[in-house]
Amino acid sequence: MNTTFQSLLFEVDEQGICTISINRPEKLNALNNQVFLDLDDALTAADQNPEIRVVIVTGVGEKAFVAGADIKEFAEFTSQQATDLSTRGHRVFQKIEDLSKPVIAAVNGFALGGGCELAMACHIRIASKTAKLGLPEVTLGLIPGYGGTQRLVALCGKAKALELMMTGNFISAEEAEKIGLVNSVSDSAMEAATALAAKMAKQAPLALKNAIKAVAKAGQNDGYLTEATLFGELFATEDFKEGTSAFFEKRKPSFSGK
Ligand code: COA
Repeated sequence: MNTTFQSLLFEVDEQGICTISINRPEKLNALNNQVFLDLDDALTAADQNPEIRVVIVTGVGEKAFVAGADIKEFAEFTSQQATDLSTRGHRVFQKIEDLSKPVIAAVNGFALGGGCELAMACHIRIASKTAKLGLPEVTLGLIPGYGGTQRLVALCGKAKALELMMTGNFISAEEAEKIGLVNSVSDSAMEAATALAAKMAKQAPLALKNAIKAVAKAGQNDGYLTEATLFGELFATEDFKEGTSAFFEKRKPSFSGK
């Protein structure tokens, strides 16, 4: 599968960590049509490659993770075109949330509007100290359209979500951690995300996959039932045998993903 993209960098290291970097630094990595097309394909490539164990999403440059949807591109849109844009955004960001491998957002700068929504679709968010996050769509006469009205509520509760959406305020990384929007803050989001990814990359891939699937059902009627089924499935894997053998033999496990 082709992993050369017009608007993204796609790199895989020897630990199985794939870094997808949005590469439009001159436009603060704003999400245009090309970025969405590339991101869609990059996610498929990352999902299908068994050598990739963990994915990190970040932005090229010092200044921005992603400063939002490309405002220039949608300025003349009709309502129908905007609804279609939103629906496409939902699909691609849901693909991130449903990926069979952990996805970590390394929020290295501005994560605004669609950029904040991209980070929220990832399983984990690590922010640099200097990062700024927010949903400033209201300042354009809009609301978030790539899942922000739903995911921010799930992460921070209705009151904080509405406060951010109704003021358009940018908040610091420290504040974002306080309200549960990011997991942690570090001098370098990329370094901290890579350390986390390296730890996850050593775990059993099918256990990671089933953890993502089970957590996706949290709060739903079939959440516990799903957990039991996914828990049971893992007992039939080679990696479960390897994990338990390694425990009894007092050595570190080496997981194959089978
Ligand atoms: N869409 C399109 N272009 C964008 C963009 C976006 N969301 N965010 C930044 N850019 C472009 C700017 O237009 C500028 O391009 P130019 O050099 O051709 O004029 C370039 O990126 C650099 O941005 P600039 O505004 O000059 O940087 P700054 O440091 O003065 O301000 C921000 C940084 C993030 C505060 C500011 O760019 C901003 O408010 N961006 C929009 C954020 C937003 O509303 N996002 C939600 C969209 S729904």
